[in-house]
Amino acid sequence: MFSAVDVIRAKRDGLELPDDQIDWVIDAYTRGVVADEQMSALAMAICCRGMNSREIARWTNAMIDSGERLSLGSVGRPTVDKHSTGGVGDKITLPLAPLVAACGAAVPQLSGRGLGHTGGTLDKLESIPGWRASLAEPEILAQLSAVGAVICATTPTLAPADRKLYALRDVTGTVESIPLIASSIMSKKIAEGAGALVLDVKFGSGAFMKTYPAARELATALVEIGTQHSVPVSALLTDMSVPLGRAVGNALEVAESIEVLRGGGPADIVELTVALAQEMLTLAGITDVDPAQVLSSGAAHEKWTEMIEAQGGNPAAPLPAAARVRVIESPSDGYLSTLDAYAVGVAAWRLGAGRARKEDPVDHAAGVQCLAKPGDRVVTGQPLLELHYTHESLLAGALSALDGGWAVTAGAGTRGPLVRDVIRNTGVAVVVSTTTATNSTLGQAPSAR
Ligand code: URA
Repeated sequence: MFSAVDVIRAKRDGLELPDDQIDWVIDAYTRGVVADEQMSALAMAICCRGMNSREIARWTNAMIDSGERLSLGSVGRPTVDKHSTGGVGDKITLPLAPLVAACGAAVPQLSGRGLGHTGGTLDKLESIPGWRASLAEPEILAQLSAVGAVICATTPTLAPADRKLYALRDVTGTVESIPLIASSIMSKKIAEGAGALVLDVKFGSGAFMKTYPAARELATALVEIGTQHSVPVSALLTDMSVPLGRAVGNALEVAESIEVLRGGGPADIVELTVALAQEMLTLAGITDVDPAQVLSSGAAHEKWTEMIEAQGGNPAAPLPAAARVRVIESPSDGYLSTLDAYAVGVAAWRLGAGRARKEDPVDHAAGVQCLAKPGDRVVTGQPLLELHYTHESLLAGALSALDGGWAVTAGAGTRGPLVRDVIRNTGVAVVVSTTTATNSTLGQAPSAR
């Protein structure tokens, strides 16, 4: 017989939690036997003290076992999914899922909604008239077999412990913990049943992980969980200091994704979409198809149309457009040298594109269109940013979020590569190019290290 207080005390004092305690506490929390206040104390202790890789593996397992696993055996093609840790203008899933399906794999993309300054895939797709996010399990399986791609809301039976715990962490300041983030992401993804997984782990101002080393630590933990569950996993470490593409906001991002699917669109979106597709296809064992060629052929756009129509959406219907647009112009000749992802993300959120609480509605038309990107030459009076919004009262907050978030200077400045590195497992061992933290205690607060 275990006691929640003993488990909390043990972690508070920096002890390792044994497997049976972890199994018990997750199961008891899911059943309501361990109370929210006890689980929040334990989550805070984990935030401060961290967990080692055995604890993370067991915690992830217990969360998977709190619900059911999707069985994708009937789909008839290799299955592979992608997960992004979230960013500003990150609409990559929209062109990526139909692209990978057009290349021959099946993509079961069970997604969440946006919270805070990062957007959610379902919110973006809900800008399309008629499109339906909630599908029952048989519908998911049928669409995967027929179309090869489905993007829909996660089902209530997948990792219910994570659903409950994530909502609690969100309101108790316990989201920012590598063991808790890694186990949360991987429990949902493993329960979803895809044969392989590609992770887009972002670093920079617009990401969860503000620095490259922190993102690398998270990526290593995520890949290692994949190894422990014999799931091939690759993690691309990608720059999120500048918004991805030009559009930030739900309908604006759908429009930009369609441009990409039609063979155009911003170069960074195309680059990342193709890089992730290539990695997904490799893990799925499809090595004779070039995703860049499939993207430019129009086949991915046809797949998009099928995927949207299968969920009741009208891909030809006009997308919502904002009633008001405020333009910010360049004050001088020079180069746009700074465009901070976090500032743009917060501005779009304050214009109504995102939500502060889970139950808030979003304004699908709201957002920011970045007309110039860092490195672009600009002249005095040239439009740099467009703010799209419905209510005048929202404008001042968005403008203040952008204060100091962009700059025009005499020099262009420099940027690192979009994809900084890749960490892969081989199903047996984690392959990284520098030292890993797999055997150390991860996620301790800096003062406790
Ligand atoms: N996304 C998740 O699914 N879980 C976390 O803990 C953080 C981001």
